[in-house]
Amino acid sequence: MDNHDKLALPVGTTLDRFIMRKQEDFPYATGELSQLLRDFALASKIVNREINRSGLIDVAGAYGNRNVQGEEQQKLDVIANIRFIRALRNGGEVCTIISEEDEEMIQTGNVQGKYVVAIDPLDGSSNIDVNVSIGTIFSIYRRVSPTGTEGTAQDCMQTGTHQVAAGYVIYGSSTMMVYTTGNGVNGFTYEPSLGEFFLSHPNIQTPATGSVYSVNEGTSEYFSEGMKKYVAHCKEQNYSARYIGSLVADFHRNLLKGGIYMYPGTSKVPNGKLRLMYECNPLAFIVEQAGGKSSNGHRRTLELEPTELHQRCPVFIGSTEMVEKAEEFLAAEMKTAEAE
Ligand code: AHG
Ligand code: MN
Ligand code: MN
Repeated sequence: MDNHDKLALPVGTTLDRFIMRKQEDFPYATGELSQLLRDFALASKIVNREINRSGLIDVAGAYGNRNVQGEEQQKLDVIANIRFIRALRNGGEVCTIISEEDEEMIQTGNVQGKYVVAIDPLDGSSNIDVNVSIGTIFSIYRRVSPTGTEGTAQDCMQTGTHQVAAGYVIYGSSTMMVYTTGNGVNGFTYEPSLGEFFLSHPNIQTPATGSVYSVNEGTSEYFSEGMKKYVAHCKEQNYSARYIGSLVADFHRNLLKGGIYMYPGTSKVPNGKLRLMYECNPLAFIVEQAGGKSSNGHRRTLELEPTELHQRCPVFIGSTEMVEKAEEFLAAEMKTAEAE
């Protein structure tokens, strides 16, 4: 670096410029997907501002409503939902949205829009009030119904392998957006004074193995035998237990450092808690693009057939070797059950 450069260090690649450059890699791309990613980035900046202010103004805390899963909605859940839906409506590329916060599909009115979106606008909402990292997760599909009409349930319930892009935003010690369009995973860190995301984590590759396991062990009484044995195995290996309770934050740490995140089916909740369309599938797409793996314990997450908008599924996601080891324990349990 010469003296002249040292006077003013380059700020790096902005998300907008990165998206534009990537678009040039696809000769027939019309720019709609790029615009859609920019819509997400814009809404996430606004949500980031609301989250940062939440300690100061009366937006933290319960809103008094319950969402479709019967969980208490937080004010920031509602705010984030409104912000993302509005950005997607105004952007014009999306015909239909499914959101954790809305029981029915949301028709944006953009019947010419070629894409459908599934979104968890605010993930980890129990952590809002206590200043712990939270996130947003999104998944993008090309519609299968013809343009000019409203999007259909068929558009919204495609298998995860059909995703054209997926990403998440983590509102943490810094705010980051991480996404894939099926050509690797890139992470961008928000620079609040400039109001821009900058490329900070190019081509993220997750380690093949790690030494962290993340699961809510408070529910272990209800784990299956295979699951109990796998957790015992993690302890024998001297892995560290890390569980924030915000999927995005637990996933992000394990993606960068190696590890496994699990939300298994239990005798109490046979399909676990997490939702296929806007939690498991987008993160499964990202983890695979980063060289990792995601399954329901037996089958690849991305190949699970959706049957309901808000369906839940067990998930084992993270470093490939760790997910495969967990699958081994669960398969052994199935064999024992068959033999009995
Ligand atoms: P959400 O806030 O979108 O409802 O998601 C909460 C999810 C996920 O973020 C987290 O990993 C999981 O719930 C924690 O659940 P438990 O408290 O049952 O472990
Ligand atoms: Mn969630
Ligand atoms: Mn949520």
